[in-house]
Amino acid sequence: MTDSKYILSIESSCDETAVALVARDGTVLINDVASQIDLHAPFGGVVPEVAARRHIEVCLPLIEQAMHDGGVGWDEIEAVGVTYGPGLIGCLLVGVETAKTLAWIHHKPLVAVNHLGGHLYAPFLKLNDAEHLLATRGELKSLTDRNEQPPYPHLGLIVSGGHTSLVYVASPTEYETIAQTRDDAAGEAYDKAARLMGLGYPGGPLIDKLATEGNPERYTFTPPMLRRDKPDFSFSGLKTAMSVQLKKVYAELGVDTDQGQPAEALAEQLPDDVLRDLCAGFQSAVVEALIGKCQYILKDRRINDLVITGGVACNRGLRARAAQATSAHKWLNVWFPHPSVCTDNAAMIGGLAWHLDPVADDEALRLAARSSLPLGGPLAV
Ligand code: KG4
Ligand code: ZN
Repeated sequence: MTDSKYILSIESSCDETAVALVARDGTVLINDVASQIDLHAPFGGVVPEVAARRHIEVCLPLIEQAMHDGGVGWDEIEAVGVTYGPGLIGCLLVGVETAKTLAWIHHKPLVAVNHLGGHLYAPFLKLNDAEHLLATRGELKSLTDRNEQPPYPHLGLIVSGGHTSLVYVASPTEYETIAQTRDDAAGEAYDKAARLMGLGYPGGPLIDKLATEGNPERYTFTPPMLRRDKPDFSFSGLKTAMSVQLKKVYAELGVDTDQGQPAEALAEQLPDDVLRDLCAGFQSAVVEALIGKCQYILKDRRINDLVITGGVACNRGLRARAAQATSAHKWLNVWFPHPSVCTDNAAMIGGLAWHLDPVADDEALRLAARSSLPLGGPLAV
């Protein structure tokens, strides 16, 4: 790839339609996200069919807007990059078909990008007016030098609504998945627990906010799967534990739970201090489960750098706990991408696309979306 300057990238694997323009050195010119949170909030989670339809409405106008705002014409587009998996199949299809069509019409190479690889690439993006974070020697600092980046190899922890994966990252395109969740993702656990407490959607930021004001010792939750001989994560038990804890709380408050009322209606009777303490206890268990497993693998593999990315990486409790770990272990550095590229976005897809070979011209129109796609797996056309 030589003459032109930007990769136009599209991400539509879940409930965000996202478009970005990224230069070869990772500089992000445009990073636009059309969030669907309001659309899905009444359902307490993403409704795949509804999400796909919204992607169809929003995708092309968002691309036009991005190119207009970036002052970029098709002459300056080097290639079109797109997330082709893993994700919700109807949602992925919208991005993939849009990208294929645009690449074909404008005679541009098409680059197929794994969504998880994109998340891992986020701390390497060069952002304007936004800084990534680094926890080191007990402190959490903003990285003002855009060239300060995690070294390879490092360990990557992807924590989002759909994924919880711990990955050995040898280069932008070479990975080994070490641990995954056996059931719910960490963000999913947040969202489900928030629903039980009647907090709304998405639950992660809401629990995070309340947890900072709560006492984690009042209602304790056991961090799941901390045993060293068990490599994977598991978060569905925490949702059950929250439901059991809430039953006890309602019994203490004298609230009758036998009338079949929905969780949200019951939760209206929870006093604020109880809610805050429940959130603090829950968050402490999630954070401990994540950091505990990472610490074990980092030591076991003698790796000094950990990148935490995905929506849950925005969590303040997780960041504080990571900083605490770097105080105890002076050899450890924990890198957090800026929140704008932690949650789903297209800049991470465009940044990684520069490191990948485009799909062969005669295969491009046959690129298929993949609902499940292992990291580093073969490119399916
Ligand atoms: O990466 P993302 O935007 O989408 C997926 O690929 O899933 O992550 C969204 C998830 C949601 O489950 C949301 O509750 C969670 O990230 N999340 C958080 C926080 N901000 C977003 N979880 C915990 N604390 C937060 N501050
Ligand atoms: Zn994601």
